[in-house]
Amino acid sequence: NENESVSITVVGASGDLAKKKIFPALFALYYEDCLPKHFTIFGYARSKMTDAELRTMVSKTLTCRIDKRENCGEKMDEFLKRCFYHSGQYDSQENFAALDKKLKEHENGKASNRLFYLSIPPNIFIDAVKCASSSASSGNGWTRVIVEKPFGRDSESSAALTKSLKQYLREDQIFRIDHYLGKELVENLSVLRFSNLIFEPLWSRQYIRNVQFIFSEDFGTEGRGGYFDNYGIIRDIMQNHLLQILALFAMETPVSLDAEDIRNEKVKVLRSMRPLELGTMVIGQYKSHTKGGVTYPAYTDDKTVPKGSLTPTFAAAALFIDNARWDGVPFLMKAGKALHKKGAEIRVQFRHVPGNLYNRTFGTDLDRATNELVIRVQPDEAIYLKINNKVPGLGMKLDRSHLNLHYAARYSKEIPDAYERLLLDAIEGERRLFIRSDELDAAWSLFTPVLKELEEKRVVPEYYPYGSRGPVGAHYLAARYNVRWGDLG
Ligand code: BG6
Repeated sequence: NENESVSITVVGASGDLAKKKIFPALFALYYEDCLPKHFTIFGYARSKMTDAELRTMVSKTLTCRIDKRENCGEKMDEFLKRCFYHSGQYDSQENFAALDKKLKEHENGKASNRLFYLSIPPNIFIDAVKCASSSASSGNGWTRVIVEKPFGRDSESSAALTKSLKQYLREDQIFRIDHYLGKELVENLSVLRFSNLIFEPLWSRQYIRNVQFIFSEDFGTEGRGGYFDNYGIIRDIMQNHLLQILALFAMETPVSLDAEDIRNEKVKVLRSMRPLELGTMVIGQYKSHTKGGVTYPAYTDDKTVPKGSLTPTFAAAALFIDNARWDGVPFLMKAGKALHKKGAEIRVQFRHVPGNLYNRTFGTDLDRATNELVIRVQPDEAIYLKINNKVPGLGMKLDRSHLNLHYAARYSKEIPDAYERLLLDAIEGERRLFIRSDELDAAWSLFTPVLKELEEKRVVPEYYPYGSRGPVGAHYLAARYNVRWGDLG
């Protein structure tokens, strides 16, 4: 629209997330012609920096990754010219008022829409919201605020945060980001389920034996120990990223694709779940390990981690949904840092074929012969279904084969980064992939009791070597439900 402008202010512009994700995602959107015609980007942070310095900083992280079109360099220059910097304190009305003045100059009398991306630590979060909303919010267009986790540490602190936020913003102005919801294969989950006749009828306790949600990183918390030690893997990955995927996986069919309809179903399924219990959980922490002459550090070797910290860097848990569809089906989650591989997967293991004519051919290991649907969220995105197939030849020998949808082979276009989709949605006011406050409450209710218990009892994690497959306890936990963890990849 000719008469409208959009400004995007990245609060915490010199931070890691801004540099690694937010600016590159904005550039990718610009490159793809997805940003509105009149847009301006402002970096806001405490350090003193000129516009030119911001541009140099941003330019270092931009890549022409979408395709190697020749005009990429030109596009980058155009983009950088639309980026500006404003230095200010996060709790200063005056500094935000000065930003407002600059924004107005750029808006040049047009109706102004303003998006603030708060990429700052939780302790300064509310002050920044207060200042941004009272001194720099738009008078004649929309004002939206994207907030990043952590959204509190437990039910109480999260509720307090929500309450404070609501003093300054309406719920429809708050965009709580969970970047896993912006990942291509997570977005695709509903398409897979609801638009293919062959899956949805099988999507229940009747045919599904267990579901696994696996997150694994092959590096530790190096450099982020200070943040991480306050939260731990359960809050960092499980309570948000994995639980969000689980909710999308297990929810009932929404009335429509409308944001409220989808989020209503997610809340419903979360509220049908049993809070986690210590007895159905395993926690771990990585210890130092030497391999090939290289010594990898222990979690507690990080100078920013308090000595003797018991914070888990690994956790596995069995979760249950007490509704008619999922009664008794274990949903297993596993998340860990400093493991042997990087990846994120959903694995759906189906039940045995009743009265299977070919049982004899499988020997005693019937589990190995059940169908399994694997959704590889990352890296090297893929969806494949393990089926049993006759090995060609005169005899009758079966083996496991894959019906395989391998994204790199099927689609030539590169997959957008999660932040690109989410930023575009926020600019367009699409809330489907953002977390509503009641979803957040429901998610915390599931995890708060066990987190409290872990901390009160000072439960000692099971130590696992850096680069290993994690604590053996996770295998015993799965075995209690007759489950074997799928191997990533
Ligand atoms: C973040 C966590 O939310 O997600 C990090 O705080 C984690 O600890 C990251 O490394 C993983 O995201 P991705 O997109 O790299 O899998």
